[in-house]
Amino acid sequence: MEIVIHDSPQRLGEVAADAIAALLAADPTAVLGLATGSSPRPVYDALAARCERGEVSFAQARAFTLDEYVGLPADHPERYRNVIDADFVSRVDFAPGAVQGPDGLATDIPAACAEYEAAIVAAGGVDLQILGIGTDGHIAFNEPGSSLASRTRIKTLTRQTRLDNARFFDGDPQAVPQHCLTQGLATIMAARHIVLLATGRGKAEAVHHLAEGAVSAMWPATILQHHPHVSVLLDSAAASRLQ
Ligand code: F6R
Repeated sequence: MEIVIHDSPQRLGEVAADAIAALLAADPTAVLGLATGSSPRPVYDALAARCERGEVSFAQARAFTLDEYVGLPADHPERYRNVIDADFVSRVDFAPGAVQGPDGLATDIPAACAEYEAAIVAAGGVDLQILGIGTDGHIAFNEPGSSLASRTRIKTLTRQTRLDNARFFDGDPQAVPQHCLTQGLATIMAARHIVLLATGRGKAEAVHHLAEGAVSAMWPATILQHHPHVSVLLDSAAASRLQ
């Protein structure tokens, strides 16, 4: 696990964007894994600017998102598919249909989860996965207690995550859906390179466990200690509990 510390979120975004641009230069058909939320936004801003300048193209690339709330209407602004479209996909040149996400409106949820896993495998797997981390150590929506061998499935969000995400729902934790579909920890571990971003003191304890804690389902991100190629991009507040 390599750890990079910079105090400017823009600089962290450029570091991640450099990795993605290098990947696409080597293989324009690369498969990306996209996280939603505030942590990756500087990455998406940097990539959108580079795409606009003609320095990088996603025209032949594909991407898979990590997770989705269950039951939010298709036009809900906080549906993760809509968030990632607004934050990134609509700002670059992906081909129509090149970005897929778990279907939080599926009537047969186990079948939709199995189809999603199969789609990732059929695409050749994820070359570079962008991740954030929850204050409770979740990655995607694999909350504490998630199986380290898990695959895409339905999960219940913890009270902590609903509190953390209330900021996107007019401050009301009750408005945050209770359930989500999420790639599992084993799904994420199959990505060939993982780039995790975390900023702010609120992430410091989770980052400490990620890098220095015992591997445990109670801090799901610790499974990344078993991955051969993880880059962790932090500001000094998020790094403040590292030894
Ligand atoms: C989002 C996701 C979550 C977030 C995490 C941190 O697709 O998978 O694990 O990465 O909740 O969220 P932010 O970045 O908003 O602090």
